Amino acid sequence: MPEPLILGIETSCDDTAVALSRGFNLLADQAASSMDQHAKFGGIVPEVASRAHLEVFQPVLQGALAQAGHQLTDIDAIGVTAGPGLVGSLAVGLAAAKALALALDAPLFGVNHVVAHALVDQMEHGPFLEAVLALVVSGGHTVLLIIDGRHITQLGATLDDAAGEAFDKVGRLLGLPYPAGPHIDLLARDGDPQAIAFPRALTRRQDLEKHPYDFSFSGLKTAAARWIEAHQNRGEAIDLADFSASYAEAAADVLVSKTIQAAKDHHLHTVVIGGGFAANSQLRAKATQKMAEAGLEVRIPRLGLCTDNGAMVAAATEHSFRHGQRPSQMSIGADSAMDLTQMVAEYPQVTRDGRLPSRPLGP
Ligand code: KG4
Ligand code: ZN
Repeated sequence: MPEPLILGIETSCDDTAVALSRGFNLLADQAASSMDQHAKFGGIVPEVASRAHLEVFQPVLQGALAQAGHQLTDIDAIGVTAGPGLVGSLAVGLAAAKALALALDAPLFGVNHVVAHALVDQMEHGPFLEAVLALVVSGGHTVLLIIDGRHITQLGATLDDAAGEAFDKVGRLLGLPYPAGPHIDLLARDGDPQAIAFPRALTRRQDLEKHPYDFSFSGLKTAAARWIEAHQNRGEAIDLADFSASYAEAAADVLVSKTIQAAKDHHLHTVVIGGGFAANSQLRAKATQKMAEAGLEVRIPRLGLCTDNGAMVAAATEHSFRHGQRPSQMSIGADSAMDLTQMVAEYPQVTRDGRLPSRPLGP
């Protein structure tokens, strides 16, 4: 039997992304971003994002089908991001996915966006053969998860800002365009990572006892903001390359050292790094080097699979299939704070006030 043809739909933030895959073999990956409309506001405007998803979903879907040389009726299963993300944006993708699932009589998988950022690596480097340690670093999350088949254990997370968020906020102080992460990355390439000694939060012995696998980036962000302010007050020019290199080094240092420790403590041999911030060159280089020295296999997807995309949702759907996960029910909602130990939204989904939905729809 051929592997299933999977449609993956991602609309959790500003990207309207659709992918088609045959198992873990990616056939098409199309996206349209509304970032240009948000950039002038210095952050994502939810209403604008939802409206853009509505406008471009159909052409992006048609583009993916054309790229893969398939038609809608060929599709065997549909995956869609159910959370975390912006509710209005998620709702557009979910509504489209439900309509398609009903029309095609195909199973629907409401996928967890954060977990999918790690699972997508299988599209590039093949299936996970054993439990992996996943470091997912994005604009909204910084988490360490053990992914073992369809079971997920959360080891730690950021206590405050996500790494990408901290980069975007400091970038704003420097007058860089939003999102600033990629700009800081580029600037850092010509700088000295040891030029400024920025703090490494939660790495002292007493902090490690309480928060061995947690992160904190608000201290780093504040230290950087003070440093910028002090220079501006003295009328001194800021060496953007040295600043960016030192800032990126401090973030990468903590992410990599805590991840290696978690892998050792839990006897895991493979580390997967995903999420938009996994596109960061300094993190990629440090992780590749330090994790190899520690005897770990490190898997980091190519840049296009790190930032939000449809392939991650298709990959999560295929992974769920392989590990015997039942499809979601038609009544799944958009879950902006979806539990990270949930790979796929299960039914019955308990409402925010702890009750079950009163009238389940569909099978
Ligand atoms: O995963 P993602 O595309 O969206 C979320 O799910 O949040 O991540 C977006 C984040 C932004 O904060 C952006 O600044 C950051 O990823 N980012 C980077 C790089 N590329 C994207 N941060 C540092 N270096 C990069 N090269
Ligand atoms: Zn993301």
